[in-house]
Amino acid sequence: MKFFVDTADIGEINELNTAGLIDGVTTNPSLIKKAGRDFKEIIADICKVTEGDVSAEVIAIDQQGMIEQGKILAKIASNVVVKLPLTGDGLKACRALTAEGIKTNVTLCFSANQGLLAAKAGATYISPFIGRIDDIHTDGMELIHHLRVIIDNYDFKTQILAASIRTPLHVRDSAIFGADVATVPPAVLWGLLNHPLTTKGLDQFVEDAKAADIKI
Ligand code: G3P
Repeated sequence: MKFFVDTADIGEINELNTAGLIDGVTTNPSLIKKAGRDFKEIIADICKVTEGDVSAEVIAIDQQGMIEQGKILAKIASNVVVKLPLTGDGLKACRALTAEGIKTNVTLCFSANQGLLAAKAGATYISPFIGRIDDIHTDGMELIHHLRVIIDNYDFKTQILAASIRTPLHVRDSAIFGADVATVPPAVLWGLLNHPLTTKGLDQFVEDAKAADIKI
């Protein structure tokens, strides 16, 4: 499973890059707002330090506007993926941009039927929002499972990009249920490292190395 990082913060992306932890980046208007800089400049900067795909979301909600904005975003760098909402207009824009060879990420997916429509429209990625489904007391992970079955049943090329990941368990279960990619906030990604027995074991080794006066 690939890891994308869900942030528009270039410092966080650089830090994760030094550990070789990420295969791409996803952003959305809320993350751009948090970063507090010019949208297209942020995307250009992220693309420069990211080898894999970088999702940048349109702000128009009509078909023509999304197509025009998608083409502008795609020109920023060759690894830009145009993020489109899962609406009728979004699917039409997805089909048009796909026909022009532009990669797409259809976002705000909350049902298997929505995902099926995005796959039929030729989406490169479909983004089911796991955490937000859990928020309304429904099982977000079941959606990953259903999408995996549907995409495999019909050999669609669309990749499942598990989004709205909030916990290490979401990451583990997305991998178990066969998501192609998980887009993960930096804190959760670093949190995957944590295990109390690793901390305890390392403390003991450090203490014993001192006691044994080991020098290298
Ligand atoms: O990738 C989508 C993600 O940013 C949404 O996450 O936590 O706002 O539901 P969240």
